[in-house]
Amino acid sequence: MLIKRPKGWELPESAATPEHVYMNRRKFLAGSATSIGTIGLGGAASIGSVRTAAALDDPTADLYPAARNETYTVERALTPEEVVTTYNNFYEFGSSKNVHEASQSLPLRPWQVAIDGMVEEEMLLDIDELIRSMPLEERVYRLRCVEAWAMTVPWTGFAMRHLVERARPLSSAKYVRMETFEDPEVAGGQKQHWYPWPYVEGLTMAEAMNDLTLLVTGVYGQPAPPQNGAPLRLMTPWKYGFKSIKSIVRFTITYERPKSFWEEIQAAEYGFWANINPEVPHPRWSQAEERIIDEGSSLFWDKVPSQLYNGYGEFVADMYTGLEDEQLFM
Ligand code: MTE
Repeated sequence: MLIKRPKGWELPESAATPEHVYMNRRKFLAGSATSIGTIGLGGAASIGSVRTAAALDDPTADLYPAARNETYTVERALTPEEVVTTYNNFYEFGSSKNVHEASQSLPLRPWQVAIDGMVEEEMLLDIDELIRSMPLEERVYRLRCVEAWAMTVPWTGFAMRHLVERARPLSSAKYVRMETFEDPEVAGGQKQHWYPWPYVEGLTMAEAMNDLTLLVTGVYGQPAPPQNGAPLRLMTPWKYGFKSIKSIVRFTITYERPKSFWEEIQAAEYGFWANINPEVPHPRWSQAEERIIDEGSSLFWDKVPSQLYNGYGEFVADMYTGLEDEQLFM
């Protein structure tokens, strides 16, 4: 059965249907999507188990739910949890949106995170020790994919600056390069040799230190499941979603601008900055509007105007003063 929530995005978030109501009301949903672009929207996102033993068995589960940081508010309804956890981009597990089942093969423990490069002391951190040492909080952010769809998600995590400060970068460092795990035996997509694995992303030091930049460990008040990038993923809500690299194993502080996964594949379409701007179209489609991903058929998804920096300009625009010669919006 398809359920249409008319103009759900116009509701304040506080008026959104609570998660458990969705959980009880809808066991099975059908989804479909149109296809655009190199990072194409896949086929139907089938709904199965959205929480797995791996996520529920998380050794840091006692830290959830974390208190919400109310600095960052979103005047849209939360995207239902089943949609957030079943409509995903995670190319390591396939190029469709329907990768949540395949991604359950990713072992989340033990998991280590390396911090290396231009730091006073290189480190190899156990994920549980790292998460327990950080001030976890919940933040509701918009997520805007370059494919022109959008969600509103309650993430749990910590500001990335806490990790960067712990790494004690050298003052001459300019960028942070991030890398996803690489293991074709658990991630079948990585057997596709035409992709430049592992997935890589990068930020400037200023972006990494910006308070909006979140390292995500959880979603919807629980440890994140693999499909959302467990056990550690980036979230930069003013940038297109491909910047928010999942399942990170390495942070390298560097002087050189990192070349990201998608930039390596198609530099004319996916750049380093990838800041959201409705007036700068993707070479193959407009970015003026976005579809609010909801349950059911894409035919019923609302289309709304996109916003400069995804509505986060007051927090991030200053970082780009003097960089007008750069391709800031692709
Ligand atoms: N990270 C890795 N490692 N692999 C990916 O394929 N896809 C990106 C980003 N991070 C991706 C990734 C893209 S294109 C988007 S839109 C978001 O993850 C989707 O995040 P979500 O599945 O939690 O909504």
